[in-house]
Amino acid sequence: MDKFIINGGSPLAGEVTISGAKNAVLPIMAACIIKPGRYIINNVPNLKDTRTMISLIEESGANIEFLNNVLKVDSTTCNNPVAPYRLVKTMRASFYMLGPFMSRFNKAIVSLPGGCAWGPRPVNFHIEALEKMGAKIELKDGNIVCKGKLKGTLIEFEKKSVGATGNIIMAAVEAEGSTEIVNAACEPEIADLCNFIELMGVNIDGIGTDKLIIHPNSQTFDSPHVDKDGEIEYTVIPDRIEAGTFMIATLMTKGDIILKNVNVDHLDAVIQKIKEAGGEINKINDSSMNIKYVKEIIPTDIETLEYPGYPTDLQAQWMALMSISSGESRIVENIYKDRFTHISELTRFGADICLENNQAFINGIKSLTPAPVMSTDIRASASLILAALSANGKSSISRIYHIDRGYEQIEKKIKSLGGNIIRVSG
Ligand code: UD1
Repeated sequence: MDKFIINGGSPLAGEVTISGAKNAVLPIMAACIIKPGRYIINNVPNLKDTRTMISLIEESGANIEFLNNVLKVDSTTCNNPVAPYRLVKTMRASFYMLGPFMSRFNKAIVSLPGGCAWGPRPVNFHIEALEKMGAKIELKDGNIVCKGKLKGTLIEFEKKSVGATGNIIMAAVEAEGSTEIVNAACEPEIADLCNFIELMGVNIDGIGTDKLIIHPNSQTFDSPHVDKDGEIEYTVIPDRIEAGTFMIATLMTKGDIILKNVNVDHLDAVIQKIKEAGGEINKINDSSMNIKYVKEIIPTDIETLEYPGYPTDLQAQWMALMSISSGESRIVENIYKDRFTHISELTRFGADICLENNQAFINGIKSLTPAPVMSTDIRASASLILAALSANGKSSISRIYHIDRGYEQIEKKIKSLGGNIIRVSG
């Protein structure tokens, strides 16, 4: 297993280009299966998770080419609506195959995703909504077996769920009649999926809001965005979580960096918190901004919420930052109440954190000290990298396969900003 050796203490400075959004591209890749056709997706990050999604769509019969962040999918040959355990177990987002399979084949066999490092992650919203649309669902040998021609209907989620919203949008594309989703997730990644699906000749009302209406359209690919060869081309939005991670890294290393290929609007909540914590942010244009450390980190509370609130995927990184603030701060985790596996590892750097239910209380210290630590999930790993970059001296981070799932070429990007990080293969 690979590990990172980080010699911390140097400020990150320079320019970094943010990759395409992992959480947007995964459902978009799955959506290519819905209507047989040829798709070109640009700005696709080369990650372990995107490669897993490629394997899943290949398994269903699609032909794929992936080069220089451009993904070409030919889904005309798809004939196997199965997402097997060996792939699903490595990535929960494999469950995104369910909606597209039901749309295209009226049938799906998708292995049930298990829990994850930070506790149970149920899929009841996905299942209940599909049943309401007329699917017959049973659990067989650990697989969800789903059958039936879906009918558009009203789906009201009791809680906003990114995955369930995405799955039901995709399931609704070939349903009979329109589907209305109430209390839909408003994350930019869901809006991106909707924008992509609209290119297939499907109208979606309310994109970016919590009420979506999907109007299926029998005229396949009847869209002005389809080129003369019948291909659909789309460019995925930038990854706001990767951008936020680099913003926090800048403050933790007393740095000064320019982020390129970002959507500044998607980062509103994070920008506000960075400013409250004393960071300086200057928007250069709609797709780039400068972030600078200017003074001691001010203790700043956060509470994770659905978009447009502060994202849970940047909670661990914020905790690393607050560990070196000038006082006490509080983090409330509202999305995944147990998402705190990073606390014990951050403590190894000297961080002073106390956990009570879903709230962490952080007592900022002057500086972190280097330590050997272990990654537990994608975002927790990011927080450990940030802590190691800020601690003066040599740290090691093991099990970095987690980080490779969600951050494209992270060590190359950190090195280009002057950080001292090496990957040791083992
Ligand atoms: C997605 C993101 C993940 C992010 C999360 C919250 C992807 C690939 N992953 O995960 O990085 O941390 O959104 O922003 O996009 N829930 C249920 N039943 C369900 C589904 C969800 O109770 O059937 C609950 C969850 O336990 C959680 C909340 O709803 O408390 C939100 O989860 P959800 O938005 O579905 O997360 P994911 O789509 O799995």
